[in-house]
Amino acid sequence: MDVTTMKAMTAAECQPLLSIKGLKTHFETRAGIVKAVDGVDIELGRGEILGLVGESGSGKSITGFSILGLIDPPGRIADGSITYDGRDLVSMGEEDRRQLRGNDIAMIFQDPSMTLNPVLRIDTQMIETVQAHANVSTAEARQRARDALVQVGIPSPDERLKTYPYELSGGMRQRVAIAIALINSPKLIIADEPTTALDVSIQGQIIHEVKKLCRKTGTALIWITHDLAVVAGLADRIAVMYAGRIVETGKTADLIERPLHPYTKGLIDSVPSHSTRGRRLHQIKGITPSLLNLPQGCAFRERCEKATKECLVAPKPTLLAGRLVRCWNPAL
Ligand SMILES: Nc1ncnc2c1ncn2[C@@H]1O[C@H](COP(=O)(O)OP(=O)(O)OP(=O)(O)O)[C@@H](O)[C@H]1O
Ligand SMILES: [Mg+2]
Repeated sequence: MDVTTMKAMTAAECQPLLSIKGLKTHFETRAGIVKAVDGVDIELGRGEILGLVGESGSGKSITGFSILGLIDPPGRIADGSITYDGRDLVSMGEEDRRQLRGNDIAMIFQDPSMTLNPVLRIDTQMIETVQAHANVSTAEARQRARDALVQVGIPSPDERLKTYPYELSGGMRQRVAIAIALINSPKLIIADEPTTALDVSIQGQIIHEVKKLCRKTGTALIWITHDLAVVAGLADRIAVMYAGRIVETGKTADLIERPLHPYTKGLIDSVPSHSTRGRRLHQIKGITPSLLNLPQGCAFRERCEKATKECLVAPKPTLLAGRLVRCWNPAL
């Protein structure tokens, strides 16, 4: 970016789109406090694509739900801040937050039925979504709905608009849910494993289309997945989550070529690739610990091949080779 462009940008535009600092989202259960998200920092630029990766139960969805204000009791944001476009989302009232969802920030869920109403035709649902946030005629809203279906690669959009969700295949339903997420041109999309239930070729197509659209419209994206391979070709940066914390963040290529955290390395080694064909895939030993009973110090310590006595104390995030890493013994 040249100096003139920089000067022309307002202070607000220079800020990250989303800035999460020290986020803690806890659930008070009978068995104790589940610290699902326990001190997460995320920064996301305008138009940037971030892959949020980690095993099941690491706190990825709860991080996404926290951003959208979708945490219900017994869960609560116990600490930290979430700033979107200069506005504090944690203290924002429900009505403002509802306006922001669907207008500025959209979510795509793993299960499209979280978005789609089974008893309403696709056109009714899409037109409602447009008109909930924009004062436009039904004809104009229908045109936007049609355009959104075309954008996500749905053939014969006019016919599809007249169908009910059950008349569509799983892949088509998810495309419609994505079209609904995109329809009001949000600045940020949070996608929570939206392609996990689909077969690999449809997954690939959808990822390719979503990436193309985000690039075209300058939409920022957080793509949540347990599968590092899915975000390798999609994300600009990757954040690796383990037991409620981000253990490593870096540019996608750097992180994949040279993981610094032993957990990131374990995830990469367990991805099937051409180089490992015919060889047994590496598996990270042990299982994810219960969030109610985390080991003292680094939560990954008991599964880590590089653990030392130092790991009995929780490591703080440290900037190393352009990456933030929470580890006493990173691979340097
Ligand atoms: N309502 C709740 N009450 C108690 N604990 C909860 C609740 N919702 C989530 N948790 C816990 O929070 C932790 C993080 O959950 P989360 O859904 O964010 O995991 P995830 O990384 O998205 O996993 P997955 O890959 O399986 O979707 C889990 O241990 C889960 O059991
Ligand atoms: Mg999840």
